[in-house]
Amino acid sequence: MIKFIGVNDTDLDLFEGLYPIPNGISYNSYLILDDKIAIMDAVDIRRCKEWLAALDTALEGRVPDYLVIHHMESDHAGSVAELFSRYPDIKIVATARSLQMLPQFFEGIDFSNKEKTMSVGEGDTLSLGKHKLKFIMAPMVHWPEVMVSYESSSKVLFSADAFGKFGALSHSEEWAAEARRYYFNICGKYGVPVQNLLKKMLKLEVSAIYPLHGPLLTENLEYYISLYDLWSRYEAENEGIFIAYASIYGGTAATANKLAELLKEMGAHKVIVSDLCREDVSYAVANAFRTGAMVVAASSYDGDVLPPMHNFLHHLQLKGYRSRRVGIIENGSWAPSAARAMKELLSELKDVEVIEPVVTIRSRMKQSDLQAITSLAEAMLR
Ligand code: FEO
Repeated sequence: MIKFIGVNDTDLDLFEGLYPIPNGISYNSYLILDDKIAIMDAVDIRRCKEWLAALDTALEGRVPDYLVIHHMESDHAGSVAELFSRYPDIKIVATARSLQMLPQFFEGIDFSNKEKTMSVGEGDTLSLGKHKLKFIMAPMVHWPEVMVSYESSSKVLFSADAFGKFGALSHSEEWAAEARRYYFNICGKYGVPVQNLLKKMLKLEVSAIYPLHGPLLTENLEYYISLYDLWSRYEAENEGIFIAYASIYGGTAATANKLAELLKEMGAHKVIVSDLCREDVSYAVANAFRTGAMVVAASSYDGDVLPPMHNFLHHLQLKGYRSRRVGIIENGSWAPSAARAMKELLSELKDVEVIEPVVTIRSRMKQSDLQAITSLAEAMLR
């Protein structure tokens, strides 16, 4: 029997110190009860107490034999020391790299005792009785030590961060939006490793995916897998155009919104507009990857570009944004510099084509600017 013993975290302001999670997040953990008992991952130390209580209830008086660590990051392995002190004879099952990393996180615990740890590699198995785990290496999904495991009797894939999602399980919402924001901001850089994992999954008969965050996926798996395939190949989900702007006094914002209006009038499939000064950059990153083309519009600032735009384009570079068409609008009251700065940042991205004309606004959009904005809209749709 596999029991869910995960916990919700609904009062964390920023996940990984970066990402707003208005609906919280779950730290998923599972218990496999058989002749032997395995705990599948721990949780963040923030919710250790609740997790240990859930574990205690699920164990029904028995004692766990193994803790399987799929991923050493603190949102999962953060409670290992507390578990160890409660069950000193438990054996940690993890990759060699995870076992190497353990002492970095927990001072004063001797992990060198071979009786306490079991290093596993590609294809290794662990029999718990009826349940049998097969370990599959998934380096860089999202750290180098990551593995996933497949339980053959239930056909469950314990997928670590893959297929994870922002949002506590106590909050009901559609999967894709917060799974997309999670994927591109957490794993976006690692498309090739994700593709490698998907190829390994093809060889398995998977009937359920149990990730480390978000809902357990038990049906319609093709939907989730096909999105992961698309995302990890850096392909757009639709032909929409994402307009991201960073505006000081509203002149750039008005121009961006005018472009959006024109694009819609011209029949654009979908237009999404984002104010980078007010919306967290993680949402803009997800929308940039989601759509096939983008327009960046920003004010000039200190001979460069307004910092929220710089930050956004830097994030896109970190996450491997590529193979898109990008239009540029700059605003400058006395020495426009934003277009040059944005072009420089875009030049660091792979296969990004800058679409002409680059539009320059002087302080406020005027009637005389409409022709250039219309030309940009036409070029974006071409
Ligand atoms: Fe959910 Fe990479 O940790």
